[in-house]
Amino acid sequence: MPKEKPRSPKRKSGLRSGESVRILISHAEIRKNVKRMAAEIRRDFPSEPLHLIGVLKGSIFFLADLARELGGEVSFDFMAVSSYGKGTDSTGEVKMNKDLDVSIEGRSVIVVEDILDTGLTLKYLLRLFEERKPKHLRVAVLLDKVERRIADVRADYTGFPIPNEFVVGYGLDFDERYRNLPDVCVLDLWPRGAKKS
Ligand code: IMP
Ligand code: MG
Repeated sequence: MPKEKPRSPKRKSGLRSGESVRILISHAEIRKNVKRMAAEIRRDFPSEPLHLIGVLKGSIFFLADLARELGGEVSFDFMAVSSYGKGTDSTGEVKMNKDLDVSIEGRSVIVVEDILDTGLTLKYLLRLFEERKPKHLRVAVLLDKVERRIADVRADYTGFPIPNEFVVGYGLDFDERYRNLPDVCVLDLWPRGAKKS
């Protein structure tokens, strides 16, 4: 087999000029805390079939890892909403782009979100889901930017509280890029013309 050329770190992480990333939470730490969260959820619902609702697209890796750690009867569905525009700042508006495929009435539902920021997305989702009469409705978030909260919502299961920095990787994007980084990284943007010291 022909040998693959080693990739430069820059190419490997898909970096564009003016952007740099530094690891905030390693993949190993993520896996450890996802395992811990799954144990907490199973402690609360030992033999209950669980219906996970992933909020696209940021939650895909988190949902995939959490579902496998949970064991027992697990099903999942996906919802797509948008709150962020192209940049790193929220527009404050939440719009539904894709609804669930199946009813959640009478089910034990865990909403699986990548990150809790202002909380506006989660507030919108919880209001919507409560009307649909699930048996239980809980929230699992991987990351929580506690100091950014505007809406009065909280997660039942949290992976990591994080500082107010824009993060990418493990599903999280900047302009649809960096979702495939295995670690959660802080994204630094360098203004045009500025040099990184
Ligand atoms: P919220 O409605 O302000 O809580 O924002 C929730 C959504 O904004 C998340 O599901 C993410 O898609 C996005 N978001 C918030 N902070 C970040 C970040 O640091 N990096 C990438 N996406 C983020
Ligand atoms: Mg999201």
